Amino acid sequence: MSDAFTIADADHAMRNWSGPDPGRIEIGSEAHKRLFCRMLLETHNPYKPAVIDWPQLSPEALHRVTSLPIWDIAVQTEGRASIRVQTFAETVRDPLLREALDMDGGEEARHKVVLSKLVEAYGIKLAPEPEYLRPKDPEWAWMVTGYSECIDSFFAFGLFEVAKRSGYFPPELVETFEPVMQEEGRHILFFVNWAAWYRKNLPWWRRPAFFFKTLAVWAFLIWERIGIARGIDAGGEAQDANFTLTGSGAVGIELKPRELMELCLAENDRRMAGYDPRLLRPMTVPRLARLARKLLPKG
Ligand SMILES: [Fe+2]
Ligand SMILES: [Fe+2]
Repeated sequence: MSDAFTIADADHAMRNWSGPDPGRIEIGSEAHKRLFCRMLLETHNPYKPAVIDWPQLSPEALHRVTSLPIWDIAVQTEGRASIRVQTFAETVRDPLLREALDMDGGEEARHKVVLSKLVEAYGIKLAPEPEYLRPKDPEWAWMVTGYSECIDSFFAFGLFEVAKRSGYFPPELVETFEPVMQEEGRHILFFVNWAAWYRKNLPWWRRPAFFFKTLAVWAFLIWERIGIARGIDAGGEAQDANFTLTGSGAVGIELKPRELMELCLAENDRRMAGYDPRLLRPMTVPRLARLARKLLPKG
């Protein structure tokens, strides 16, 4: 995209969206499904990773960016997310939901391309990538990806703002990466609405199993994060899936945990503010963050 007006338009359109028909919408209804699917489809930003003009960085900025311990895990997370979302999409028969899921998976694949281009542009060395296997249980893999994004995006929103304010990321790089952050916001908004809609449409006798599946996903994600954190302590070196939870020092500002929570909450609200208020918002992680904010010392 070379036309500045078009870029500004696409950027505004991806952050602001309301459904066409006013009025109350019942969670789990056809209208609800149309609302969250259309939100995703109509806020798609058509940028092309191949034409991103990666800004020239000063030697210090380049060193800061290349030494962040996140690039391997970021590329691999996007690779896994895209195959997981795509595999789940293939199981879905509803045409509109399928279209939205295909787009979601396509955007994950595009994130991976953006990261690969960044890595190439700044000469970051990556570890060899694993094979991205199709999951055996597509629904489980989709739910793991969805809830994992709910955790990671919440903290990434705050850290991205920290890196922006501290100048750790130069403004041009912040601008280049901004659409990717907002896209993750759209994904978690879509995901939590899908989860609520799906649960409502299950026959009553399948709901307990779905409830326990959801609990198992959360338990798995917590276990995964604790496991990775331990691995880092033992190994000393950081390829850190917990980076979003622990990384504020690494991006240029020493923030108290309470201040980081506040920033994450504010950024989360800001990124979700432009979408139809009838859509459910991701609640679990913000609720836990609010609780942590209450419990953490003020000073
Ligand atoms: Fe992504
Ligand atoms: Fe995503």
